[in-house]
Amino acid sequence: MGWIGKSVKRSDAKSKVMGAALYIDDYGYEGMLHAATVRSPYPRARIKKIDFSQAQKVPGFVRGITAKDVPGKNLWPLVMHDYPFLAEREAKFAGEAVALVAAESLQAARDAAAATRLLLEELPCVTDPLQALKKSAPRVYGRDNVFARYVVKKGDVAKGFEEADAVAEGIFTTGYQMQAYLETQGMIAFPESHGGVTLYGSMQCPYYVHDAVAAALGIAYNKVRVVQRSTGGGFGGKEDMPALVGTHAALAAVLTGRPVKLIYDRREDFISMSRRHPSWTQLRYGAKRDGALTACQAKFILDAGAYATLSPIVLWRGTVHAAGPYRIPHVLIESCAAATHKAPCGAFRGFGQPQSAFAHESLIDELALKLDMDPLDFRLKNALRVGDETATGQKLGESCGMVDALEEVRDASDWKKKRADYPAWKSGGARRRGIGVAANYYGVSLGARGRYLDRAAAQVQIQPDGTVMVAIGNTEIGQGARTVISQIAAESLNAPYEHIQVLETDTSRVPDSGPTVASRTTLMSGNAVLNACEPLRRRIFETAQEMLKKKGGAETPMSASDGKFSVAAAEVGFAEVARECYLRKLKMAEQGWYSAPPTSFDTETGQGDAYVTYAYSANVAEVEVDAETGETKVTKVTSAHDIGKVINPNAAEGQIEGGIVQALGYAFIEEIIEREGQVVNPNFTDYILPASADAPEFKTILLEHPYPAGPYGAKGLAESPIIGPAPAALNALRHACGVRLSHIPAMPEAIWKAVKHGDQKKQ
Ligand code: MOS
Repeated sequence: MGWIGKSVKRSDAKSKVMGAALYIDDYGYEGMLHAATVRSPYPRARIKKIDFSQAQKVPGFVRGITAKDVPGKNLWPLVMHDYPFLAEREAKFAGEAVALVAAESLQAARDAAAATRLLLEELPCVTDPLQALKKSAPRVYGRDNVFARYVVKKGDVAKGFEEADAVAEGIFTTGYQMQAYLETQGMIAFPESHGGVTLYGSMQCPYYVHDAVAAALGIAYNKVRVVQRSTGGGFGGKEDMPALVGTHAALAAVLTGRPVKLIYDRREDFISMSRRHPSWTQLRYGAKRDGALTACQAKFILDAGAYATLSPIVLWRGTVHAAGPYRIPHVLIESCAAATHKAPCGAFRGFGQPQSAFAHESLIDELALKLDMDPLDFRLKNALRVGDETATGQKLGESCGMVDALEEVRDASDWKKKRADYPAWKSGGARRRGIGVAANYYGVSLGARGRYLDRAAAQVQIQPDGTVMVAIGNTEIGQGARTVISQIAAESLNAPYEHIQVLETDTSRVPDSGPTVASRTTLMSGNAVLNACEPLRRRIFETAQEMLKKKGGAETPMSASDGKFSVAAAEVGFAEVARECYLRKLKMAEQGWYSAPPTSFDTETGQGDAYVTYAYSANVAEVEVDAETGETKVTKVTSAHDIGKVINPNAAEGQIEGGIVQALGYAFIEEIIEREGQVVNPNFTDYILPASADAPEFKTILLEHPYPAGPYGAKGLAESPIIGPAPAALNALRHACGVRLSHIPAMPEAIWKAVKHGDQKKQ
C-alpha cells in the first residue's frame, strides 16, 4: 500500500488553519438581500394573524413571506411529511418558523422580523414525553403522540429470565445534547432564469436540501442545484436541518427575484434546530451463575419534540443496538418516539445509540457486580464473536473485533491492577479514584430502515497534467472525508496523493448519493470512487506498461508505487502517463457507483440483517472524584476501535479523541435547561461545552478486522467514538464511590448528593 494506512496531511488543513477557507457567511453578492425568520414565542399556539404593517416601516424592508406564499407543498418531504416549512394554523414549539422577511441588510431583516406582529392564541401543551404518551395529554401528533414504534423479539424473554440466576434492572435517563457546531446554519439562494434556484451553504446532505426545495417551490428536480460550502461542523445537526434553512432562503429568492442570504444567530439556532433526543430506558438483564447472559428486556422511549424529522430512524438505530454487543438468546425490546411541544430532536453523532448504550453499559456493570465478576471479564464472556447472532438475529459472518477491542483496552489500561487498587486510593481524604469500561458496536451506514438510500456515486477525472479531480456525493464536514477519499483514489490510480483534488459537493455533478451520515462516507463514497477508478487504473497501467516497453524494460513485471511505474531501470511518472493517455485519446473520466448489499428488518418481529457490517469499540475511563464537591475529572480514556482497515491513522485518532471529549461533555457538563417548553440557556455562555483543557489523557488503539466489501477492508469510524465513553466514565464513578448515577448529564450536585447518601448508607 502506498497511501492507504498513512497519516498524510489533511487536504483541507492549510486553508482552514490559515483562515482561507470560505464559509457561507463569508460570501456576499451584488443585489443580495438578507432574510430573517419570525418565530413563535409559545410552545403551542394557534396562529390567527401575521401582521407585517409595522415591519413594512423598517427602512430596507422588501417583503414578508408566510405559509400562503409557498408555491409548492408546505410539508417537508423527510421521513414523515408532517413538518410545514412555515407554520400554518398552529405552531407546535417555541421557536418554530411562522414567517420570513427579506430586506436590504441583515439589520433591516432582523428589525423587520422583530416588528412583525403575530396574533397568537396560546394552547395547552405537553413537554414531558411520558406525559405525552398518556391518553389525556394535549395532542401533538396523530392520535397518540407517537411518531414511531419498534419491537425486537428474539427467543422467549420470559424463559430467558427463568433460566437466569441473577437479574439486574434499572431505569436510565439521558438529557439533551447540542451538536454545538461552531458555524451556525446558513444558506445563500440564487433565483435562476429557468425559474429554478441554486443554493450554496453549510450542510451535510445536499440531496436532502434538493428534495425539500423542489417540493416547497413545486418545481422539477432539474431546476434545483445545491452546492456545499466549507462547513464548520455538523455532527448530525446539519443532516436534515439545512433543508429547512435552505428552503426558506430559496422561497425568499424566488419570491423577490434576488439572491438571498439567511444565516442564523446562535440563539435561534439553539432554540429551533435539532439536538440529541432525551431518553428514558427501562432495562433488565438476566445471566447464569457462570456469567452467560440469558435475557434482555428493554423499553426505550425518546422525546422527539414537535415534528418527526429523523426520529423514526434515530429510534430504530437505538432500538436495534439496545441489547448491547452481546450474544443473548432471549431479547425483547420495545421502543417509541413520543411527540412533545418542543423543538424537534434529530441527528447527533451516535444517532440514538449514546442513549441506549448508556443504559445497557450501566446495567451490564451492575449485573457483573451481582455475579461478583470483573465487569470486563463479564463483557468478554458475552461479547459478540464471528458466527454469533445479534439481537435482530443477524449472524455475524466476518469482521468482528469486539473481543479484540476489550482485550486491548484491558491490557493497555492496566485494568486488572487499577481495578484492584483504585478503591483504596485516597488523597486528601475526599478524593477517590475509579476505573470503568464500556463496550459497543455500531451498524455502519443506513441499514435496513434506510436501505433505499444506501448507494453512492463518484466522478473521477484525470487531467492532462496528471492531476485528478474527484467528485463525490458525500460531504467534508470536518471528519476528513476529502483526505480519506483522496487516499483511496491515489491508491487505486497509483497517483501522487497531492495530485488529488476532491471537489465541493454539488448535486448537479454527482447523482443522489444519500446523506453524509451514519459513518458511511468512507465505505459508500470510497467504494464508488474505487468503481470509477477501476477502468482509469486499467488505462493508466496499460499505457505505463507500453511506455516502459518502449524504454526497453519489457521482461520483468512492472511495479507501481508512489505515483511511479517502473520496470528494471526504466521509470515513468503518473503525470507522464496521463499525458500519454490524452495523446492516445483515451477516456480519462469515469463515473462510479456503489450500492450496498441487502439488509432486512421484519417490522413484526424486529428480526433481520439490520446493517451491512458493524464497527466495534471498547473504552476504559479513569476518574477522580472529589466527594466533598461532586467534581469529577476524567483523567484518562483508553479507546480501542475495530474499523476494518485504517485509511489514515492520524485522522482516525482525531475522530476518536473528538468523540471522547464530546461524550464526556454529554456525561458530565452539557445540559439544556428547558422550562415549560422554553430553552433557558440558548448560548455558549450558559450551555457549557468541554474545551481542550477538559480533555483527558488519550490512549487510542486502532484494530483491523477487514470487511471484505469495504474499500481496502474499511468499515466506518465517525460515530462509534462518542457512544462508549459516557457509560465507561459513569462506571468508573461507580467504582470510585460505590454509587450508580442513572441520569446524564451527571452534574456535580447530583454526584455529590449520591456520594453523600451512599457514604451514609455504608456507615
Ligand atoms: Mo449523523 S448523527 O448520522 O448525521
